[in-house]
Amino acid sequence: MENLSFKSFVVEVLENAQISRKIKTKTIDELPDGDVLIKVAYSALNYKDALSASGHKGITKKFPHTPGIDASGIVAESKNPHFIQGEKVFVTGYDLGMNTSGGFQEYIRVPSSWVVKLPNNMTLREVMIYGTAGFTAGICINEIQKHDIFPDNSNILVTGATGGVGSLAVGMLKKAGYNITASTGKTEQKNFLKKLGAEEVIFRDDLIDTSNRPLLTGKWNAAIDTVGGRTLSTVIKSIKPRGSVCVLGLVESDRLETTVYPFLLRGINLIGIDSAERPMDYRLNIWKRISEEWKIENTEFLVKEITLEGLEDEINLILKGGQVGKVLIKIS
Ligand SMILES: NC(=O)c1ccc[n+]([C@@H]2O[C@H](COP(=O)([O-])OP(=O)(O)OC[C@H]3O[C@@H](n4cnc5c(N)ncnc54)[C@H](OP(=O)(O)O)[C@@H]3O)[C@@H](O)[C@H]2O)c1
Repeated sequence: MENLSFKSFVVEVLENAQISRKIKTKTIDELPDGDVLIKVAYSALNYKDALSASGHKGITKKFPHTPGIDASGIVAESKNPHFIQGEKVFVTGYDLGMNTSGGFQEYIRVPSSWVVKLPNNMTLREVMIYGTAGFTAGICINEIQKHDIFPDNSNILVTGATGGVGSLAVGMLKKAGYNITASTGKTEQKNFLKKLGAEEVIFRDDLIDTSNRPLLTGKWNAAIDTVGGRTLSTVIKSIKPRGSVCVLGLVESDRLETTVYPFLLRGINLIGIDSAERPMDYRLNIWKRISEEWKIENTEFLVKEITLEGLEDEINLILKGGQVGKVLIKIS
């Protein structure tokens, strides 16, 4: 392909350690090696993207860099016969947007082993509404079910419920038939969470235990925790016998304080969730379930669609814990 130029959202760490974020022009030659070139249609904003866009060295080591761990689009060029020019595909996770130039630009070039064909009943836009957030929520539901917690009479707690992973988890769990309690710091978003399918909404400050007791009344069969810290400590003490807690995030804190009692006396399971490096077979199975049995009827009310020009404001908002639902980025 000729050396096209295209628009890219570029983050730089300046000499005074200040961060610069600008939309710049790049050329195809500047993209990393890879056997599939994709013309990006949509990307989405995740908490990890905001960390990368803030110069967080734990996520991205080298700058200038273009974040975006999610991208959907059309194959522009492929050296792997499994993918043909014009085919609709998407990528979530692996190294995309971390140390590989990511989805916040008009073209990405990636190894074909990261590329997934678009499920039959999804559009390029829809698949990005789910993106890494929905995929992660799907892994959690899958793991909860592997631990024998099925919809009949099961109550699931979702923390950080208005965020990307949280809101999709609430909607997908509802579709799967569970009863959901949503925990949020945003008192004004109760109706949003009810509309998504939460039976009960509990405010973050009311959830967090300050009693220091090793066990609290068992209220939930399972939990999907996106925040960590004191919230996760409380959740672990509040799970019913043989329940499960999916641990996936750290927006409150990367610390976890607990005793062994919930494990010894209630036999609860702490399940670590990593979405980026899941093998392709596992990945395809989760996407099949998302596109069929867990597909939320109406996702439009949880989507805010922007272009690259609107990213700066949304990055600042998500870093403050202010995101509600999913920010979708229309690229081309
Ligand atoms: N393990 C994995 O594979 C994986 C995959 C995806 C995401 N993650 C992680 O999961 C977390 C959520 O990601 P996301 O993209 O969904 O982020 P997000 O959209 O920003 O959602 C996080 C939500 O957590 C709540 N929150 C924010 N600050 C908080 C605080 N100080 N204390 C307690 N709650 C707070 C807010 O919801 P409320 O106001 O409703 O409480 C916020 O909307 C991040 O830590 C991310 O890195 C991990």
